[in-house]
Amino acid sequence: MPAYAFPPGFIWGAATSAYQIEGAVDEDGRGPSIWDRFSHTPGKTRDGHTGDVACDHYHRYQEDVALMADLGLQAYRFSIAWPRVLPQGRGPLNQAGLDFYRRLADALLERGITPYATLYHWDLPVSLEDAGGWPARDTAYAFAEYAGVVAAALGDRIRHWITINEPWCVSMLGYQFGEHAPGRQDMPAAIAASHHALLAHGLGVQAIRAAAPGAEVGIALNFEAAVPASDSPADRDAARYRDGYYNRWFLDPVCGHGYPGDMIADYRAAGYLPRGMHVVRPGDLSTIATPTDFFAFNYYSRVVVAAGPQPWQLRELRLDTPRTGMGWEIYPEGLYKILLRLYSHYSLPRILISENGVSYLDPVAADGRVHDERRIAFLREHLIACHRAIQAGVPLIGYFQWSLLDNYEWAWGYHQRFGLVHVDFATQQRIPKDSFAWYRDVIAANGL
Ligand code: FCB
Repeated sequence: MPAYAFPPGFIWGAATSAYQIEGAVDEDGRGPSIWDRFSHTPGKTRDGHTGDVACDHYHRYQEDVALMADLGLQAYRFSIAWPRVLPQGRGPLNQAGLDFYRRLADALLERGITPYATLYHWDLPVSLEDAGGWPARDTAYAFAEYAGVVAAALGDRIRHWITINEPWCVSMLGYQFGEHAPGRQDMPAAIAASHHALLAHGLGVQAIRAAAPGAEVGIALNFEAAVPASDSPADRDAARYRDGYYNRWFLDPVCGHGYPGDMIADYRAAGYLPRGMHVVRPGDLSTIATPTDFFAFNYYSRVVVAAGPQPWQLRELRLDTPRTGMGWEIYPEGLYKILLRLYSHYSLPRILISENGVSYLDPVAADGRVHDERRIAFLREHLIACHRAIQAGVPLIGYFQWSLLDNYEWAWGYHQRFGLVHVDFATQQRIPKDSFAWYRDVIAANGL
């Protein structure tokens, strides 16, 4: 009996996304996405790295599925590249692109691995960006069409769907900060983008259900524990704002509570809503709150904030605490707290962790192996936090480690490594790290 036994039927998974692993960007009729354009724009990514080849998974998926089987993986979360299926975003279907995901799903099912398909992990077809991107309402309708097409074609094989990955990143990294594609810096546009990404989720749930009865659908939000630097009212208000901006702005409408009133007031005061909440039309909030079958979220870290002149001008503090290769603080307690909050304040009945993991640049050692003890320690602490939450009654039903493979970490290019499997990007050789063997034991024992 493991010291930390998980409930029977707990789902052990790992996750990836299309642009981060597939490569083959010009093959079989795939159209360009905003990430192709962004990564090929000088100065946007570290050393100009692109996902042109990445892990070459498009050609090596069988080898990668064999690795998953060795790991004893029960579920695999991957994403479908919208521009492979609908190269122009809308209109004619590209059968060859769709067939890749059919083959992948079949390979998974043959090994007894349940596919979890994310429909949007950031690779918007460029034609849709050129028509306005996520700040334009039409993009939400285009997403629903795409979701319906894919669910109709693959719904016989894929039963589990995630609509949008991390609408905070889609809207804020893409349109507020411009650190991610499409690289715009316009906060009012970013807020419009956040609404349309959520609207796309709600319309997508409806489209998937209509096309594939019996489908199970959810969204993957990303949460960050927002902690005040001190107990002063001003610092606590900064943490309130940060939590609202990052977590509640997305969580509340999905759960049927609408946009948080404190945040609308702050955004208005900050001048972020030049025309108010005009993008929100009657009926939108109920569409966004369409009931889902599970609720998924990604968790990596926390942020400690101190008050600035205004709540939206808060300061992020960098404490002298243990950090990952990304510079993110290691804070498993935040995962525990978020799980409890989802249960006690939001009464969510079925919760999945759709990503959790860590980047370290551990090299291949002289013995040919990768000794990534720090990753094992990180995953262990976070799984113990999950176990504690389950003991406290939280209905956590599964955990997806990020990521199966070292891969293209967006603007960081190949300078970060999140994988259980080391990838040599020159030769495409895969080497399972020590954490791979460790995770295999966790899965086999259903606990630690
Ligand atoms: C998440 C993304 C995922 C990966 C991890 C490290 O925000 O969903 O693609 O980049 O962070």
